[in-house]
Amino acid sequence: MLSKNLEKALNDQINFEYYSAYTYLAMSAYAEEMDFPGAANFFKVQAQEELDHARIIYNYVFQKGGRVELEAIKKPRVSYDNILDVFEEGLKHEQMVTKRIYNLADIALDEKEHATMSFLRWFIDEQVEEEESFSNLVKKIKRASDSLANMYMIDDELATRTYVPSIKASEQA
Ligand code: FEO
Repeated sequence: MLSKNLEKALNDQINFEYYSAYTYLAMSAYAEEMDFPGAANFFKVQAQEELDHARIIYNYVFQKGGRVELEAIKKPRVSYDNILDVFEEGLKHEQMVTKRIYNLADIALDEKEHATMSFLRWFIDEQVEEEESFSNLVKKIKRASDSLANMYMIDDELATRTYVPSIKASEQA
């Protein structure tokens, strides 16, 4: 059983994960428009992963006998200064997600809600990878930004990212 407070916080996170998907899809559209098809692919895959995160929390709320209440999804930012700006914003976005997941974990800890603390462990670990991935890409793009040839090489690398569904242990049965 979830407390009303935790149920609300988990619902807010479902919404934020959908907003994240929307944000990354908008970044994909920008990259497409700027003629970086690899970056567009990278962000499209990122958006798919965010939908997985939303679904995982959605399923968990029901597993715990809670109620899911979907809210409107905020309009994402749709224009950027350049491709580096997009990745920098992606990094900032993931840092914000980490803060939100930590906040959820703090609530679960305060309430001694051990099942939710355990559930959130996967998200905490996932955020380490998310931040690392964006941080590495920001560094790479900064180094390459004075050479269009290098930028296109990075774009080719980004084109190879493929979507692998995120599955938590609880969903594997
Ligand atoms: Fe759902 Fe990228 O965090």
